Amino acid sequence: MTETFQISPQQAALYEEQFVPALFTHWVEPTLMAAQVGPGQRVLDVACGTGIVARHAAERVGPGGSVVGVDLNPAMLQVAAQVSPDLDWRQGDAAALPLPDDDVDVTVCQSALMFFPDVVAALREMGRVTRAGGRVAVQVFDLLDDQPAYGPWAAMVARHAGPEAVRMLGTYWVHGDRDRLAAQFARAGITVTSVHDHEQPATFTSVEGMVRTEVGSTPLADRLSPAQLDRIIADSADVYRPFRTPGETALTIPLAGYVMVGEPT
Ligand SMILES: C[S@@+](CC[C@H](N)C(=O)[O-])C[C@H]1O[C@@H](n2cnc3c(N)ncnc32)[C@H](O)[C@@H]1O
Repeated sequence: MTETFQISPQQAALYEEQFVPALFTHWVEPTLMAAQVGPGQRVLDVACGTGIVARHAAERVGPGGSVVGVDLNPAMLQVAAQVSPDLDWRQGDAAALPLPDDDVDVTVCQSALMFFPDVVAALREMGRVTRAGGRVAVQVFDLLDDQPAYGPWAAMVARHAGPEAVRMLGTYWVHGDRDRLAAQFARAGITVTSVHDHEQPATFTSVEGMVRTEVGSTPLADRLSPAQLDRIIADSADVYRPFRTPGETALTIPLAGYVMVGEPT
């Protein structure tokens, strides 16, 4: 997943075929359960990507409810519309949602907050379009230091490539501080009502596949020499040994994260 959001149709298709089943699908039920999505509701999925959360929300709300998915990226929305032509897909920025005030019962946002340049503005928008008494549920990942598998792996990469390498390994972990995110909810006019912790699997074709995916999708790709990359791949096998199943090539590691739920005030 790039962080530039110049996502091509091919990258969006790859996201749906590989990254959704490998990782994002596992966060859908925790997010929808925390948000208490149920029959008859109107639900907004912010930064819906190829629509995995919206599709499951549509099953939960049933024929009496409705679901709208918003994403900045037309290529992601194109895939979403191919998979589920019946849902309402709209192009838009999380910081200027294309919906009227108090339009939905529940707003969800999964694995996307870290990409928004102004988090409070996006949260304020989620609160604006959610009716009073409704819910805003945001899923994010824990801090790198609190990641049981990815944390030690990143520390190993830092030993090979320097401490600044860890910063380049992505923005996925920036909202891991619950108190800080709760304060951002408050500044956006949303009162936190619950926080739900989870650990979910992320699957890669192999240890080498994990390293090449992680490094290749960050600026680190341009900084590492082939020899450094080889050493990182070799050491990754050691770091991930506790998580491997003997005889299996595929690598499944736990990812820690949480869903914060709030009510617009
Ligand atoms: C990691 S994907 C998550 C997609 C989806 N929520 C899921 O769980 O599969 C992050 C998504 O955020 C979208 N995005 C990034 N910045 C955005 C913004 N400012 N407004 C709306 N969507 C944004 C990207 O286009 C991408 O589809």
